[in-house]
Amino acid sequence: MPREWDAKTYDSLPLPHQQWGKRTLGRLSLKGGETVLDAGCGTGRDTAALLDLVPDGRVIGIDGSSRMLEQLRVKLADRLDRVEVVNADLTKPLPITGQVDAITSVATFHWITDHAALFDNLAQYLRPGGQFVAECGGRGNVALINAAVEEVLGATDEKQKVWYFAGVEETTERLRNAGFTDIEVSLLPDPARLEPGEQLWSYLATVVLGSHLDRLPEADHEDFVRSVAARLPEPVVDYVRLNITARRARP
Ligand SMILES: C[S@@+](CC[C@H](N)C(=O)[O-])C[C@H]1O[C@@H](n2cnc3c(N)ncnc32)[C@H](O)[C@@H]1O
Repeated sequence: MPREWDAKTYDSLPLPHQQWGKRTLGRLSLKGGETVLDAGCGTGRDTAALLDLVPDGRVIGIDGSSRMLEQLRVKLADRLDRVEVVNADLTKPLPITGQVDAITSVATFHWITDHAALFDNLAQYLRPGGQFVAECGGRGNVALINAAVEEVLGATDEKQKVWYFAGVEETTERLRNAGFTDIEVSLLPDPARLEPGEQLWSYLATVVLGSHLDRLPEADHEDFVRSVAARLPEPVVDYVRLNITARRARP
């Protein structure tokens, strides 16, 4: 299963994910009775927004972190009758029945290194003609942070890489191979500025550097995060977002 997240701290941070979520859901065209799958739903911010978009429909929220899903259940406690909460790995067969009308995903796919397997898997759960709108870190994402991490830890072995930041061409081809059509993929630089000090450290530790921290002894965590932060030219996370819009091809 994917790694665990500190869900409460995550929700307390000024997340650019809120804008990414709005932008991504804004590309959906829904009538109100559909079933939508939120792939990597985390603590459920976009799951809640989707519930508003489908007042007569349902949302399936899937995530690999049980702590993120616990927080989602608390946040959506009074709306869970229309939400199926699923703790699963998006690259493996999903424990859901039938096909959904749309799949959406925010800030998740770059945590998954095998995008061909990811798209093949998700396509099976999307009805022919169904919409696929997603965003994640794309080519060039957090390059300055990666450079700072390398300065602190030394160069990372290819197999040890914790993220995959795909580009437009290979994503388009993988989507086509997985049976998608009407494919539009683009990259958008979208830097996020934070307050220097506690806010930056907390953001880096919770949102960006978690997988690196998982591999370090607890006693080294604070030093590591501060050393990375100190090497950044400004308190800015140099995000580059990969935006995807597609449909599952009809037979
Ligand atoms: C940065 S969070 C984004 C959460 C939410 N979409 C948002 O925008 O706030 C990334 C999420 O992807 C989930 N995730 C990463 N890899 C996954 C996988 N292979 N299967 C399921 N969930 C995964 C994590 O558990 C985490 O909740």
